[in-house]
Amino acid sequence: MAKSKRAVVYFCGNCGHESAKWMGQCPACKMWNTFAEEVVKVESKGMGGAAKAVLSDRAARPVTFSEISLSDEERFQTGIEEFDRVLGGGIVPGSLTLVGGDPGIGKSTLLLQVCQKLANQRAKVLYISGEESLKQIKMRAMRIGPFTDELTLLCETDLSVIEEAIRRTKPEIVVIDSIQTMFQEEIGAAPGSVSQVREATSVLMRIAKGLSIVIFIVGHVTKEGTVAGPRVLEHMVDTVLYFEGDRHASYRILRGVKNRFGSTNEIGVFEMRNEGLAEVKNPSEFMLSGKPVDASGSIVVCSVEGTRPILLEVQALVCDTSFNIPRRQATGTDFNRVNLLMAVLEKRLNVSMAHCDAYVNLAGGIRMAEPAIDLGIVLAVLSSYRNKPIDDKTVAFGEVGLSGEIRAVSMPQQRVLEARKLGFTTCILPAVCKDMLKEIEGIRLIGVANLGEAISAVF
Ligand code: TYD
Ligand code: MG
Repeated sequence: MAKSKRAVVYFCGNCGHESAKWMGQCPACKMWNTFAEEVVKVESKGMGGAAKAVLSDRAARPVTFSEISLSDEERFQTGIEEFDRVLGGGIVPGSLTLVGGDPGIGKSTLLLQVCQKLANQRAKVLYISGEESLKQIKMRAMRIGPFTDELTLLCETDLSVIEEAIRRTKPEIVVIDSIQTMFQEEIGAAPGSVSQVREATSVLMRIAKGLSIVIFIVGHVTKEGTVAGPRVLEHMVDTVLYFEGDRHASYRILRGVKNRFGSTNEIGVFEMRNEGLAEVKNPSEFMLSGKPVDASGSIVVCSVEGTRPILLEVQALVCDTSFNIPRRQATGTDFNRVNLLMAVLEKRLNVSMAHCDAYVNLAGGIRMAEPAIDLGIVLAVLSSYRNKPIDDKTVAFGEVGLSGEIRAVSMPQQRVLEARKLGFTTCILPAVCKDMLKEIEGIRLIGVANLGEAISAVF
């Protein structure tokens, strides 16, 4: 048997200084009469073989997957489907999630609604705001709807006070709004500086993991870079969500960019209303509302975000330039990609655009960079250039290569079905994808192998 020995050591109650004997004054913090004795167990050095075996059994022992059990209870469902999906099916206990976004985009509103749903399911929720007063939060909450008493609020920016409050009240879910307002006394820097933000996050990480509490952190992104953006913390937290959208348009997109518990690139679509954020269950319908009829330079494309196909309208305006160097502009998609596609158009189809300004826009202010919208961009540009409208029951998708070939994209079937659901009757898609798909009732599929074929199919 291992010989273990009881040892008595003394700790300063003020600063935690450890000493082998009692002292009247602590040598570290100079406080008087703070030492108290504590008993610690010390394993004697000379262990027998059995003790060694016990120890080695307890020490780091690699395990196999079959030995690891996963319990299914996990994950809180908020009931806000768009939100749960982005998180990979619900909130994992003990996870730390960062919700980033421009100021005023609706982060506080979103998290307050999440709190509302969770509190209605009798989860203990603590909402900590460092930005707004209790009255301001209540005013927002009244627009959103009724709250149960499971939700408690705290206006505080000092992290040690917050930590104390969390340990005392033991909530299951905590929201910190926002990380840029939090500070720790010991760190000299101002709130919002990199060291404060980083330190505050590591404290919250410890709380989340130690007490198995779900913590959501709000972080503002500023273009000026005066405030430490949440990018500093992206590698520290489990999940990073970005809340984005055109501030002038009413819809908002919640995008997962990192997720240790699920896939990324899922998106959730919301609409900002007077009574808070509403889920948009059918984003395609929403994105296409207001699409012009019989206008040149417009075509509907289908892009896949995560597991969801979304139809969008690509618009292009090509007009004579009044400058030596033509203007090119892309809104909602990659500028360089648009330039490249126009170069392909010039070279492969002999369309001369050197004297043309070109503006490409994804209608509705949405941002998408999936190559599958390439074909749509080319067709929209050409439609505007020739001033010929494209049939508005036509959808196109496909990646355009540098030789003008149309390359395959993922999930063609889902894209076609989404188009059919919204009443489109013709779909122009890569020939390779067409061969993979069987005939789909209710929609005409036109497989194209290169730009030339795509153009003769459309015009
Ligand atoms: P907010 O959640 O405060 O943004 P953030 O926390 O990201 O800074 O929301 C800001 C905007 O949302 C604000 O301009 C008003 C608008 N809003 C509504 O339109 N309807 C509502 O019900 C609420 C609560 C806010
Ligand atoms: Mg806010």
